[in-house]
Amino acid sequence: MTRQFHHEIIEPIQNRWSPRAFSTQAVNDQDILALMEAARYAPSCFNEQPWRFIIARQADTLEKARGALTDKNRRWADKAPVLIVVLARKNFEKNNEPNRWHTFDAGTAWGFLALEAQQRGLITHAMGGFSPEAVHKAFSVNDEYTIVTIIAVGYMGDSDELPEDLREKERPGTRKSLTELVLAGL
Ligand SMILES: Cc1cc2nc3c(=O)[nH]c(=O)nc-3n(C[C@H](O)[C@H](O)[C@H](O)COP(=O)(O)O)c2cc1C
Repeated sequence: MTRQFHHEIIEPIQNRWSPRAFSTQAVNDQDILALMEAARYAPSCFNEQPWRFIIARQADTLEKARGALTDKNRRWADKAPVLIVVLARKNFEKNNEPNRWHTFDAGTAWGFLALEAQQRGLITHAMGGFSPEAVHKAFSVNDEYTIVTIIAVGYMGDSDELPEDLREKERPGTRKSLTELVLAGL
């Protein structure tokens, strides 16, 4: 099923989705830097920029990041050549008070990263299915941070290589209607 756009929007948003069929093709340094740059320019509360990233793309760090994923996610995400752990600093740096928006802001940064990736011909897939404790241990993450998500980054592979149940799901996600999403004002 193809997506239905009722209103014109920019192409990277139209074309982005979350495939599971990754190829093992490596992502070059320039692309990785551009993804970080896109995330860097996300807006944030008080311009605090609470997002932090751990990029796993060498054998040892990839093994650690993969080890934190649920088995369900490992079935497809083990192929991805890059896994990015997204962290968010819990407290404001300026006064050490809790930052209620830290994960919201990290989410915005992930959105920017995903759209930059899309524009570059890369695919991304965010995962909530992982063990924060395992990430904490594997990368010695300080308690100052919430471990928000792990993102798979790479190139589209062959969907025929996915397990059958996942092959059936290998298509862009549908969306609720605007009337469901906008509670008032339209
Ligand atoms: C925070 C977050 C957590 C997610 N966790 C998982 C996950 O653990 N496993 C998975 O296969 N997909 C995961 N997804 C992908 C979503 O299922 C997907 O984005 C959604 O179905 C919409 O589809 P689309 O991205 O193709 O538009 C996650 C996405 C986000 C943003």
